[in-house]
Amino acid sequence: MAIAVYPGSFDPITKGHMDIVERAAQIFDELIVAVVHNPSKKPLFTMEERVEMIRVASQHLTNVTVKSFSGLLVDFAKKEKANAIVRGLRAVSDFEIEFQMALMNKTLYPQAETVFLATTTDYAFISSSMVKEVASFGGDVQEYLPPIVQERMAEKYGKKGT
Ligand code: PNS
Repeated sequence: MAIAVYPGSFDPITKGHMDIVERAAQIFDELIVAVVHNPSKKPLFTMEERVEMIRVASQHLTNVTVKSFSGLLVDFAKKEKANAIVRGLRAVSDFEIEFQMALMNKTLYPQAETVFLATTTDYAFISSSMVKEVASFGGDVQEYLPPIVQERMAEKYGKKGT
């Protein structure tokens, strides 16, 4: 059985991420969206909020589960018996760091292959950090977000972000 982990900060999940989730869910038998707990970053949304938003956004996908993890991604992948790690690639600028991570993860846990999916061109330029910055200054970012995230962003920023 092909089990894949799709790791990330997902602060918050965007339509770009959801595009990768939907496509990966068609390729693998099981897809685990894995939200990282990174003590050195201060996220806008709590772990619980991020996990809940992804659960709601992916509830139509029966082979997708959402979990959180701390520590090394490969340790989580091993625990979940995953044989693949999925990452989305937006632009060439993503490639260098993603390539480094893929090689390091392969060294640490050879049983899991990193699989890159190219983001759809519609969302190639968006990122969670850009969405948060624009929303924080009152810009409209709703079209880049799943409905549940649109609601949560509106709650965070009041009228802004809507
Ligand atoms: O959405 P992001 O922030 O680009 O995701 C980065 C992520 C979560 C994939 C990466 O930071 C990660 O794997 N963190 C867990 C710790 C770890 O395994 N680090 C070594 C990676 S080679």
